[in-house]
Amino acid sequence: MVKPPVIIINLKKYDEVLGKKALVFSKIAKKLSDKYGIAIFVAPPFPLLGESAEIVSTLSQHVDPYETGAFTGSIVAKELKELGVAGSLINHSERRMPHSDIAKCVELCRKYMLMSIVCVKDDAEAGELAKLKPDFIALEPPELIGGGISVSTARPEMIKHGVKSVKDVSLHTRVLCGAGIKNREDAGKAIELGADGILIASGIVKAADAEGAAEELVAGILEANKRQ
Ligand code: G3P
Repeated sequence: MVKPPVIIINLKKYDEVLGKKALVFSKIAKKLSDKYGIAIFVAPPFPLLGESAEIVSTLSQHVDPYETGAFTGSIVAKELKELGVAGSLINHSERRMPHSDIAKCVELCRKYMLMSIVCVKDDAEAGELAKLKPDFIALEPPELIGGGISVSTARPEMIKHGVKSVKDVSLHTRVLCGAGIKNREDAGKAIELGADGILIASGIVKAADAEGAAEELVAGILEANKRQ
């Protein structure tokens, strides 16, 4: 199990990461992870999963609830393992799944020794899906994703309640939060509210200086961690 604090950079399908451009972010993550001794994962578009995994700890943005077989256009857990990928986001707000599929994905990740990061929209869903005992629950209110106000500023109580609801049912499950996180203060506040790390996209992908932006977040998290 990875040691918190953790940063996950979800590259989504932004123009800035198409083709081989995603690897720029993988290299930044690797550099900062080595420099500060903090776990930083990158979730690139599917075609770059294998190459990114050769550079830095890499996650899939999604995994399908199937084993191998005749599943056209799918990406499956065993395939992620063979590509050297560390795990997968499951049920991201932009890729929601039925509860039974989420359960199957968590089970498949466990079977293939992949990290499972189940995304949820609020604290109530966090408590419900923590019963599946994934490695991580990532709290991301959909209305704040990609916006200018961070979850740690707009919904601090939701993070606190989310952490508690997860720990009430699964002590080993770590909690991340994401949505609108942009700077050192947002990231630090997330840790102070009890999160084990952050999930971020536009604050790094869209930044004029992606490395500088990522380094600020690392600083915020490490400072807050020291104060704990
Ligand atoms: O998966 C990360 C995410 O949905 C948050 O996006 O752009 O608000 O950091 P963003």
